[in-house]
Amino acid sequence: MNLTDKNPNYKEIYNLVKDLFEATEHFYHGPFDETYYSLRVYETCKEIITELEQEVSTVVILTASILHDIGKTKTDPVKVFTPLGKTDDAMKEWKRHPKLGVPIAKKILTEMGHSEEFIEKVCYLIENHDNRRDEIKNKSIELQILQDADLIADCGFAGFIRPFLYGSKFSRQIIKTIKYLQTEINRVEEDGLLNLNVSKTIAKRKIELEKRLIKEISSDIDSDLL
Ligand SMILES: [Fe+2]
Repeated sequence: MNLTDKNPNYKEIYNLVKDLFEATEHFYHGPFDETYYSLRVYETCKEIITELEQEVSTVVILTASILHDIGKTKTDPVKVFTPLGKTDDAMKEWKRHPKLGVPIAKKILTEMGHSEEFIEKVCYLIENHDNRRDEIKNKSIELQILQDADLIADCGFAGFIRPFLYGSKFSRQIIKTIKYLQTEINRVEEDGLLNLNVSKTIAKRKIELEKRLIKEISSDIDSDLL
């Protein structure tokens, strides 16, 4: 590890990532606002690391957390989105983003003066961040943290506001979005997607907040008109 590896300039990396997302058609506002979600994954990684109390490569995790979804900027929007939502085979194009992110991250980190060894470690996390459960064997603790943070970042306030943003982008009424929230079960908690016990505790906390928010807003549509 060289000196830059030991002290990554997270803010500079984030600003570069932000610029790339802001230059896209779909990832700078609305439900796919990656300037928000990249920030949330970065902060959630820090939260997990603090509560984990185990020696991990924090610099590698945090660098990867900011860059992990940058490959989305290279996906083809026509294959993912329609004016009313996602295309039927959006997932196929969506699944390409971890791999597409690797060369972008490599370029950014090389230009910033990071070592090859550091870049390889960061890129392993980026490339595998969507390989959940047994899709990849012997996950490093760093990968487990990033994967969990990626899921938890969508819980709590984020999980509450995202459906409203989706509604505003894809022509869904607020009443319908509130009803959607009332019926939606948070899959992060349900099907054991999280790797670490500490992540399960953090997720539980955030999902409780989400449920409270849904309960509060539900009273808004408690009306004899509906
Ligand atoms: Fe991703």
